[in-house]
Amino acid sequence: YRNLRVALLGGGSVGAQVARLLLEQKEELANRVGASLELVGILVRDLDAERTVDLPRELFTTDADSLILGADVVIELMGGLEPARSYILMAINSGADVVTANKALLATHGPELFAAADQVGAQLNYEAAVAGAIPIVRPLRDSLGGDQVKRILGIVNGTTNFILDRMDTDGDTLAEALRLATDLGYAEADPTADIGGYDAAQKAAILASLAFHTNVPLEAVYREGITSVTPAQIESARKAGYVVKLLAICERLVDAGTGREGVSARVYPAMVHRSHPLASVHGANNAVFVEAEAAGSLMFYGAGAGGVETASAVLGDLVSLARRHIAGGPGVAASSHADLPVFSIDSITTRY
Ligand code: NAP
Ligand code: HSE
Repeated sequence: YRNLRVALLGGGSVGAQVARLLLEQKEELANRVGASLELVGILVRDLDAERTVDLPRELFTTDADSLILGADVVIELMGGLEPARSYILMAINSGADVVTANKALLATHGPELFAAADQVGAQLNYEAAVAGAIPIVRPLRDSLGGDQVKRILGIVNGTTNFILDRMDTDGDTLAEALRLATDLGYAEADPTADIGGYDAAQKAAILASLAFHTNVPLEAVYREGITSVTPAQIESARKAGYVVKLLAICERLVDAGTGREGVSARVYPAMVHRSHPLASVHGANNAVFVEAEAAGSLMFYGAGAGGVETASAVLGDLVSLARRHIAGGPGVAASSHADLPVFSIDSITTRY
């Protein structure tokens, strides 16, 4: 096998789970990819902090430059704009490929980062930046790349969906439900990003840019959070057969006045009729309902937040770019050879 050196920037909710899975599944991933994915270090701020996941102490470092410059692939899971932006640029310019889950960074500096990657032929993958574990970036970019998306209705923030759901079904206050969402690792480091609708707006900017093949800047996304949603409003919505959901709505529109085509992206708490599939999205789950010209309606559903769930999308990005990184190399043929037995019907104890 070839060896790909993987540097992890961030060892928090998501980063620690990515590290654990990389170490635990090293052999299986190597077989799948055709290259060994060697975790060479984890960048953190505090080397002495208590960690919820047991990882080898010697992997932790505060030396960003040495870690980044010694890597083939850099996974950024620190969050925030700086130093995440500078570190990703350093990685790209040193010839590394990059995976990030940082929607705040992509919604703000995406064009600069993608241009930098294009210039040197580096890959920059970001499936985990929108809707946690749900595959939505690649489906919009690749699978629906030949269709024309007309509208996206998305529940794209797990924390606010969790809070609104708890307020609706358990009678929690917003503050109580937010505390729980934070303890469960769903909320951003500064949860104002969640409850203020900023995180959903960043995701809406990314989704609209992908779906409509244009750059939708964050400033162009209308945003309202859930901080003014009251228990009384949730109660009266319920009585009328609706549920309150924080929706990201991205649409291709024709301006009635000018007849010009354009797009709109907006985030606000909306009344969703209980018969709509989005009304049944509970807890920290997300769902993205896509209406496309040829495909019709599609719904992508699953865990929208959470360390281990999001780690799945990060690892998917890593496997995908690792395969391309070594394309043509000797390891590629191994990618579909996990060497698992195929059981006969007699070995199956559960039938359904
Ligand atoms: P987190 O728990 O706050 O972890 C952040 C990690 O980055 C910590 O290990 C922290 O070090 C390290 N870090 C932060 N700033 C640093 C700096 N300046 N220098 C060195 N290390 C630094 O965050 P998270 O929840 O894992 O989220 C990470 C990223 O994934 C964010 O972009 C977030 O938006 C995105 N995301 C999160 C979820 C989720 O459910 N949590 C889902 C999808 C996407 P210390 O440990 O020493 O503090
Ligand atoms: N804080 C984010 C959320 C994490 O609750 O959806 C996933 O992006």
